[in-house]
Amino acid sequence: MALRLGVIQNRPQYLDTAANLKACFALMDKHQADLWVLPEFFASGYHFKTKAEARKCAETSDGPLVALLKAYAAKNDCAIVAGFPEKAGTKLYNSAVLAQGGKSRIYRKTHLFGGEKRFFTGGDTGFWTEKVKGVSIGVMVCFDWFFPESARTLALKGAQIIAHPSNLVLPWAPEGMKIRSLENRVFSATADRVGAERGLRFIGQSQVVAPNGELYFRLSREQEQAAVISIDAWTAKDKRVHPDCDLFADRRPRFYAR
Ligand code: ACM
Repeated sequence: MALRLGVIQNRPQYLDTAANLKACFALMDKHQADLWVLPEFFASGYHFKTKAEARKCAETSDGPLVALLKAYAAKNDCAIVAGFPEKAGTKLYNSAVLAQGGKSRIYRKTHLFGGEKRFFTGGDTGFWTEKVKGVSIGVMVCFDWFFPESARTLALKGAQIIAHPSNLVLPWAPEGMKIRSLENRVFSATADRVGAERGLRFIGQSQVVAPNGELYFRLSREQEQAAVISIDAWTAKDKRVHPDCDLFADRRPRFYAR
């Protein structure tokens, strides 16, 4: 069965969580998708200058933001993956939630980028997969893509789609994610933001890539946009790049240890 995979590319107003959430829901309301991927920190903005700023808009994994995402997902019979600053006790994490069916699961960004390391703790959830309408979904956040182990671990755990909430500032991910999809034979959905925030410019170009590395679509560098594509997710189970070459069966892990 085909799965409708959607990405949201937004332009959040810094710290205006309610308005940013509303704007994303308005974009989503114009389409139908089974799985929506929203950017990293999509509702808060990204460029915190102090831990106090980050803490002010951080929420717990059972806070109002996750509750609203769960409610939207339940009402629209879809799943949502979205990034948010999470507070857990004294710690802050750069997290993404998968909300569906009135439930949620949290992924905490494993590889923090740049100044994030000043405020956030490196993720401790590890990479996991969950089923959305029978399709195995894995999550990684933005800079995680630069570490091939992230996507490989998810793919080895059975992910057919990698949901990739992002706030990209370096130029390489849109092209690089084609390789992550190709080398793991998985779909990838990168949801990025646009605009600038306190001197930091984000590159947009949210996209969906197929397991053969083909770019299904890439959004603009500047505009808020939503796009949905129908995918045959089962194709991500076939790891062959040639009748006799299966990328997973042909791995030689005993030669990969340091
Ligand atoms: C990033 O990880 N937000 C670049």
